[in-house]
Parts: sequence; C-alpha cells; structure tokens
Amino acid sequence: MCGIFGVIGKDNNSAQTVLNGLKKLEYRGYDSWGIAIKNNGQIKIERHVGKIGQAQTKLPQSTIGLGHTRWATHGGVTIGNAHPHLDCTKKLCLVHNGIVENFRSIKESLTKTHRFSSETDTEAALHLIEEKTKSGSFLKGFQKAFSQVHGMNAFIILNAKTNELFAIKNGSPLTIGLGKNENYISSDVWALLDHTNKVIFLEDNQMAHISQDSVKIFNVKTGKSIKPKITTLNWQAEQSKLGKFHHYMEKEIFDQPKVIDNLVRLDKKIIKKTADLISQTSKTYLLGCGTAYYAALVGEYLLNFLGIDANAIIGSEFSKNKNLLTQDKAFIMLSQSGETIDVIEAVNLAKKRKMPITAITNVLGSTLYRKADEKILLSAGQEVAVASTKAFTAKLAILLQVYYYLKGDLKAGKQLISQSAKVSQKIIKGKTRQLIKNIAKKIKDVDNMFVIARSLSFPIALETALKIKEVSYIHAEGYAAGELKHGPIALIDQDTPCIVIAPNDNTYTDTISSAHEVKARGGFIIGLSHENNPVFDEFIQVPDLKEATVIPNTVIAQLLAYDLAIARGLNPDKPRNLAKSVTVK
Ligand code: M6R
Repeated sequence: MCGIFGVIGKDNNSAQTVLNGLKKLEYRGYDSWGIAIKNNGQIKIERHVGKIGQAQTKLPQSTIGLGHTRWATHGGVTIGNAHPHLDCTKKLCLVHNGIVENFRSIKESLTKTHRFSSETDTEAALHLIEEKTKSGSFLKGFQKAFSQVHGMNAFIILNAKTNELFAIKNGSPLTIGLGKNENYISSDVWALLDHTNKVIFLEDNQMAHISQDSVKIFNVKTGKSIKPKITTLNWQAEQSKLGKFHHYMEKEIFDQPKVIDNLVRLDKKIIKKTADLISQTSKTYLLGCGTAYYAALVGEYLLNFLGIDANAIIGSEFSKNKNLLTQDKAFIMLSQSGETIDVIEAVNLAKKRKMPITAITNVLGSTLYRKADEKILLSAGQEVAVASTKAFTAKLAILLQVYYYLKGDLKAGKQLISQSAKVSQKIIKGKTRQLIKNIAKKIKDVDNMFVIARSLSFPIALETALKIKEVSYIHAEGYAAGELKHGPIALIDQDTPCIVIAPNDNTYTDTISSAHEVKARGGFIIGLSHENNPVFDEFIQVPDLKEATVIPNTVIAQLLAYDLAIARGLNPDKPRNLAKSVTVK
C-alpha cells in the first residue's frame, strides 16, 4: 500500500522519471499522488488528489527527486495529506509507506517546536527526523529517529542540504536500482525495470545512503556498513504492457492459458520437494490473504482428500494458531506479491519456530521469496490489476500438481491441468465469452447475489464472490451450498441471481438440490456444470476435468466479474478503496 519512488542521477529530468515510476506503482494506491524535486537549492513540490492517469509534470529541471502514490490510512484524501511532506526548514522532504503506530505521542512531544500541516502519521516521523538530525551526522540522526518509530514502515527522504537520498525500512518493501551514474529506489522492482535490472533488496532494519554514483547500506541498529548483495533480474519491462486489451484485468485473464501451460512443464523435482515436505511433516498449514487464502483453501481440500492433515489459515487471523506452530509442521505461504504484511508477519514467526517454509509467489526477490526456505515461482508475469486473476489459477496449477504427485498420478494430473488451459482458452475466445457478457448485461443492476458450491468448488464460490464484489461493487456472497438453508436463504428474493457451481463429482446431486431450493424461492440460477439441468435459468458448460475443473470455473467467474464491472461503467483495474499490495495492517 502506497508506492514510493526516488531517483538521483546525471539527467535533469528527475520529475519525469519519478512520475513514470509512480505510474508503475499506482496500483499500490491511488487516492492521491505527489512529486518533490530540488531546484536552485529549493525543494519544489506538486501534489494532487485522485489517480495519476495521463498526468504530466510541470516541475522544473532537477537531478534529484522523489514521489508517492497514496492509499490513505491516517487522514482523509486531501491535498494537505498527500505526500511528499516538508519539514519546518523546508530542506527535508519525506515519502512514506506504512503506519507510524506511535505518531500521536511523537506529535505531542514535538507540537510546540514544530509546525504540523497535515493529519498524517507520516508528518510525525518527518519532524522527528528533523529534530534528530538538527546537528551532527545526518545518518546517525536518521537512525535515532527511526529507532523511536513503531510499526512496519519504509521511508525515503530527500536532503536538500546535501543533495542526497536516504532510505530506511522495517516491514514495508524497498528496492534500490543501480543505473549508470544514476540510482533509484522504489517500493517494487516493476518500477525499476525501465532503468536497470541490477537491484539491491533492502532488508528490514537496513538504511541506505544513495547518491549519484554510490549506494551505501548500513545496519540501523549497529550503524555498521553492510556489503550490499546485488541481484541481476532477467525480467522485461514489456511484460506489463496493456497491448490490445482494454484493461489489465482483461489482459491478465487472457494470459492464463499460457501461464498454466508453462506451469505444467514445471520441473517434477520442484513439485516433489513440496510433496516430500508435506509427507514428512506432521501437519501442513497453507496461509494467504484474500484470493491467495482461497487458493490455500483449495490446497486444504486437496490434501484432506488424500487423508493429509492440512489447514488453510487467513493471514490476518494467524494469531489463533500461534501456539500450534512447531518445527515438525510445514508452512506453505501463498502470496502473489510476496509482500502482504499479514503473510510476512506469519513467516517471521514461523521462522522463529524453525518451521520449514515454502513460498508460492509471483515476485522473485519479494520479502516472502527471500525469507522462505523453498520457493515456487508462479512465473505469471506482473499482475497489474488490483483484482488477482492469473496468480490465483497459477497457484491452483501448482497445488493440483502437488496433489496429483502425492496421489501417485502426476502424469495424468498434468494432462488434466494442460486440458484445463485449453478449455480456458476456448472459454475466453469462443462462444462462452459472449454468453458471459449477455449474462452480465442481464444481471448488472442487481444489488445482491449468491455463489454456491460444495467441497473443492466451495473455495471457487468464495473467490467468485470476492471478484464480483471487488470490481463490480455488487454484493455477492460465496456460500457452501449446504449452509444456505441455515440462514442466508432468507435473502433470496424474486430474481436474486445465484451462481451454482456443479461439477461432475460426488457433490453434484446435492448441489443441484440446493439450486432447486433457491429457485423455489424465486432465485435466478446460473449453472456452471458439465451438463445442462432444468433448474438452470442460464447454463455455462464446463467439461469435466476432475479436480482441475476448478481452473475453467474460475476463469468464467473472473470474466463475469469483469463484464459486470464494464456493464456498470466501472474501471475494473482500480476499484474504489483498494490497493494491490497490502503492506499495512
Ligand atoms: O499479494 P497477495 O497475493 O498476498 O495479496 C493478497 C490479497 O490482498 C489479494 O489476493 C486481494 O484479495 C485481491 N485484491 C483479490 O483480487
């Protein structure tokens, strides 16, 4: 949440470089944005409320600058609360990602001697830095101030007196990009790829001193210099271009057949490693947030089918399991970004308990990737749309392979997953695509809808409902089909849409019975199944691919959510109130 970016270099166009960086980081928050540069010894700032869109900058020439794209936490969405913020001397300028938990007490202690002009927690940290760096070494003062700040935070500061950038972090991510006579710092690597593929991932409690021709890293606690580890990435900036598509969500849905097909070719050794870990430990926890949690739930069902003790955990509810975490149990952490704070907190605790951790993530070099013992990359390419799509089905493709391996059936399993990619391709390109658009037009004005399913399809019902809520703002509830009659069926009214996921498995008959119960109360039934059934008002056919049917069923759900957003005149890529990477609690 919040994207921060800084540059210092030889060229005079730092404002433009920062603006381009912010456009890449905008998916991390789009309540407001701002840029600061130094020109003629003065810091000059521009700040705006709303999305960056096609904005241009009018800031003058400069070789040093920083910027911020905000997802509001403390203080409303106003120009005054937009970053960057300036200290009282107007020589220090700060951008921040995170939450200063003790901002009230810091502010109270400084309010008599410093001028505050926003409602943000950030400003408390800024004036504290100003106070602690008034005299003596800037680095030492910065370090002192940071040690008094509580919470998971990343800061970049522009010091106009010395013409340098400083950065510090604990929790929230920061990556330094190394250019030729130019260096960069950013919340994520995607914003650096236009400039360089040589990066340094700043670790927690590290501090960076960045000038045009050098980057020095220090340990915050000891102040000692650290030799930076430079990583060379082999990614390309083009991966994230929109091309012929209208929205990233659409592009990323269309990317899926290829992503899944590639994952089917994943080295058997990688699948074996995870499968062995699961078999050799007494219990497996699968943890994720939002969509990643629903993937974890699919993993739980699959492993439970095999008689393996496994539990999916919601990242933010992880504390209930704290007393159960012992080193004889395994952890599989799922996260597209690899930066979700609740996942990272769980990883930190699991590491302390010496539990083996496998990361399933899309971002090489992300915090989760770096902390895990074993890593499986989704290799899905950057996911830009806030709604997670291809990362979800990629996680399913991996979990299904682990399942089929443990079942002793990997070859046949790979064939089914490969088939699921072909079927998904047909769905997004063929007649089904138009059918989904028509259904979306028919139901676009409803206020509420349900998605029901049983067993392995239940997490898909939850994911379908999340996708619909997130991008179309229609209130959708995913429910275990059997649970509906224990209360929520009271909400079924004339024409309430109810998506029924009824694959050809041992739950089919019961799921169809649930559909009848909804229909008897006036519900409008949209069936996803291998065969038509008189209870369906609309029918989307999905061939039976055994467990791998979850993949095409998900693709249909994603397309329906996308089409609903379009039919309602919404931008599915940047839904209101959301941000892609959730790095605050
Ligand atoms: O990057 P992560 O996979 O850890 O993100 C987890 C959730 O924030 C994410 O899946 C969120 O629920 C999506 N917006 C759903 O589409």
